Amino acid sequence: MRTDSPQTIYRKDYTPPSFLVDSVELGFDLDPARTIVASRIRMRHNPASSSRSIELHGEHIELVQVRLNGKVLKPSQYKLTASTLTIPKAPDEVELDIETILAPQDNTSLSGLYVSNHNFFTQCEAEGFRRITFFPDRPDVMARYTVMLRADKAKYPVLLSNGNLIEEGDLGDGRHYAKWEDPFKKPSYLFALVAAKLVCQEEHFKLADGRTVLLQVWVEEGNLDKTDYAMQSLKNSIRWDEERFGLELDLDRFMIVAVGDFNMGAMENKGLNIFNTKYVLANPRVATDVDYAGIEAVVGHEYFHNWTGNRVTCRDWFQLSLKEGLTVFRDQEFSADMIGTDTGRAVTRIDQVRTLRQAQFPEDAGPMAHPVRPDSFVEINNFYTVTIYEKGAEVVRMYQTLVGREGFRKGMDLYFARHDEQAVQCDDFRAAMADANDRDFQQFERWYSQAGTPVVKAASQYDAAAQTFTLTLSQSCPATPGQPQKLPFHIPVTVGLLGADGCDLSLIVDGVAAETNSVVLELTQAEQTFVFAQVKEAPVPSLLRDFSAPVVLQYDYSDAQLLHLFRHDSDPVNRWEAGQRLAMARLLKLTAAHAAGETLSLDDTFIEAQRALLADDTLDAAFRELALILPSETIIAEQLAQVDPHAIHAARQFMRRTIAEALKPELLAQYHANLTPGDYSPDALSAGKRALKNLALAYLLVAPGKEELALAQQQFDSAGNMTDRAAALVALIHSGDEAAAQAALADFYRDFSGEALVVDKWFAMQAAAPTTDVAAVRQLMTHPAFTLKNPNRARSLIFSFANGNPSQFHTQDGSGYAFWAEQVIALDALNPQVAARLARSMDRWRRYAPALQEHMRRALERVAAKKNLSNDVMEVVSKALS
Ligand code: ARG
Ligand code: ZN
Repeated sequence: MRTDSPQTIYRKDYTPPSFLVDSVELGFDLDPARTIVASRIRMRHNPASSSRSIELHGEHIELVQVRLNGKVLKPSQYKLTASTLTIPKAPDEVELDIETILAPQDNTSLSGLYVSNHNFFTQCEAEGFRRITFFPDRPDVMARYTVMLRADKAKYPVLLSNGNLIEEGDLGDGRHYAKWEDPFKKPSYLFALVAAKLVCQEEHFKLADGRTVLLQVWVEEGNLDKTDYAMQSLKNSIRWDEERFGLELDLDRFMIVAVGDFNMGAMENKGLNIFNTKYVLANPRVATDVDYAGIEAVVGHEYFHNWTGNRVTCRDWFQLSLKEGLTVFRDQEFSADMIGTDTGRAVTRIDQVRTLRQAQFPEDAGPMAHPVRPDSFVEINNFYTVTIYEKGAEVVRMYQTLVGREGFRKGMDLYFARHDEQAVQCDDFRAAMADANDRDFQQFERWYSQAGTPVVKAASQYDAAAQTFTLTLSQSCPATPGQPQKLPFHIPVTVGLLGADGCDLSLIVDGVAAETNSVVLELTQAEQTFVFAQVKEAPVPSLLRDFSAPVVLQYDYSDAQLLHLFRHDSDPVNRWEAGQRLAMARLLKLTAAHAAGETLSLDDTFIEAQRALLADDTLDAAFRELALILPSETIIAEQLAQVDPHAIHAARQFMRRTIAEALKPELLAQYHANLTPGDYSPDALSAGKRALKNLALAYLLVAPGKEELALAQQQFDSAGNMTDRAAALVALIHSGDEAAAQAALADFYRDFSGEALVVDKWFAMQAAAPTTDVAAVRQLMTHPAFTLKNPNRARSLIFSFANGNPSQFHTQDGSGYAFWAEQVIALDALNPQVAARLARSMDRWRRYAPALQEHMRRALERVAAKKNLSNDVMEVVSKALS
């Protein structure tokens, strides 16, 4: 709840902390209604600061007492506001003793210390530590922590905090204690504690340097059959970071704890990672292939933060992408290396491109657009975005594209050599990459400072007589809030040329012979020309291979050229991309035709290309599955100046139905060819087969006959794993056979009502079905298993509807938007961070047809007018309306 008026915070206003903290001793007397926190902070004046006053943050906590160097301070000796505690004119060396009281059971924001299913957890990033005690809660204040936990022994047998357990015992009165010490300096956002009734899977694990460490995965009793994959992923992560980056675990013990109520995916607290259960718990019965992949990625992500984030942290929150973009890049590379094959790698890359287009490009084109290193924010929690994370990872990837894998490793080594145990800036990382490789990355800085998705236009000319192929690349970038004009970016554009036989031609660019079949062109000007020599035939250019930069690439490809790339490109990402271009051209035509009331028709070109691809057994099933998925309704919408969600839905459905009818024999053949009998394994090859088989099933169920329905029903009844079970259920829900769908939904709920994460799936599948309207969502909200208080549950129903069911959310009467406004307001009273995420669903409102826009504006205004709105939601809706 807002107490002060919302303030914009600017990067340019950064000042160093006035006091530095050497050590913190924290004592917790844990009680859900009344927890007492005693803190002893040893501080000294920071010579880099001209201020002598101690500035502490504190929110939603009751101050009992402050002592300075042993003397109790009178209220006249400090200034207390709703969010700060200031002690003016402090001496050089200070010992502060602060006592606060809090009520974790009332903390529904899940930031700070809170209760979830009777257990205590913390979440301190970004600014949650100030909800526990008064402290300079900023990442450039790094200190050593000692933590004493006291709690009822029967209710909270497990007491955990960061670092090493140094003492534990009974207190006599049914209570017990544990004392933890973290040997590393850390910012307050990495503090964590857990006091809970939990059990763990544990293992002793040998590091490369010979040390043995204790690894633990903590979960609620009854979930110990779901911890194997998280443990395996943790061990793989440790090995991978040793091998790829020479980075070792620096602690004797590393713990992962799963909690059911959590705002985000997971948190990298030093030595004590706290995870959303969604990214820990898995067994074949309850988790899908996608869930398994998510666990591997997030376990890796949080583990990799131990170096990129914890050992080297951020100076201020504007630098968030310094740790997040880099760590996402690291987890992406980890997942790709775990698959190991080139096509496997490409499949992960294609998934990344899809995420960018689905979520980041729209963000970059909307009212919340911000640079990878923002210049300002109102609420930092609103800036844990796809731009900071995914575009940030693309920016890191571009260094590797420009300097190569080895050069990138050299840059990383230099970064750690220079900045270990420091709080630094994005510029420091860029400098390390530049200096280690003797490169000029001056202009590259614009990837950090300029928002918006650059557009690269390519034009080409083949001169048969001279045997030259001339490629002209030009770039521009649309205006974004506060940035009307952009300067040229430093863009790596990886290019190959295909001959008529489909093979790569050898490349000589501007007089230099390339070593491989691809060359990285560096586009730094607004327009640049590159000349390829000794080109013996008119080639088909394969541009932006491996998606070498997060841009929109425009080139006037003919269908024939795209078909050539789709059949032959040696770069699987561009092979896939050619198929997407063919599909998109048709989807846009169909959308326009539907809007104009014309009858829809689809040519054979795309269908025949898909027929050939489906039957090509030399290709991974995972790749064929991706090539067969049409661009999503959201991605289609992004191509249009004015969005008509119903026309888009109708066009895409028409195309799916036409494909399904034309390719029925091939789809059935693939269905049967990709069964995975025997024990379930989440490996990429098996997962790819299931994905292709289940996509075939989905197509077959677009307009099913009796046999197709029977096939789905049979898979649903006999599936030996959740991937196949859930896919069959979704197919039935989308089949149009309402009776079959309802019966299967009832069975599914009966079988899994005790598994919260599966109940989330049950809600999400229904929310995203094109047959589910606003009234049906309201009805689902009355289900006993529904609650707004649990973020996973709220996301599964309400977010899935608002973001995943465009044709129903955007109904003509505006009832979807009215529902959205109601839910944003209801959620905001409980959990502003989650509410603000839902508020983002209206980001692109100005792109819709005027009648819809009018309804959307009213819904936004209704939220904005609400009294006591959080800063989180206020920032999102006011930026949308401005
Ligand atoms: N650092 C965490 C991660 O990326 C995310 C925590 C964000 N928390 C928040 N309340 N904004 O793994
Ligand atoms: Zn992270």
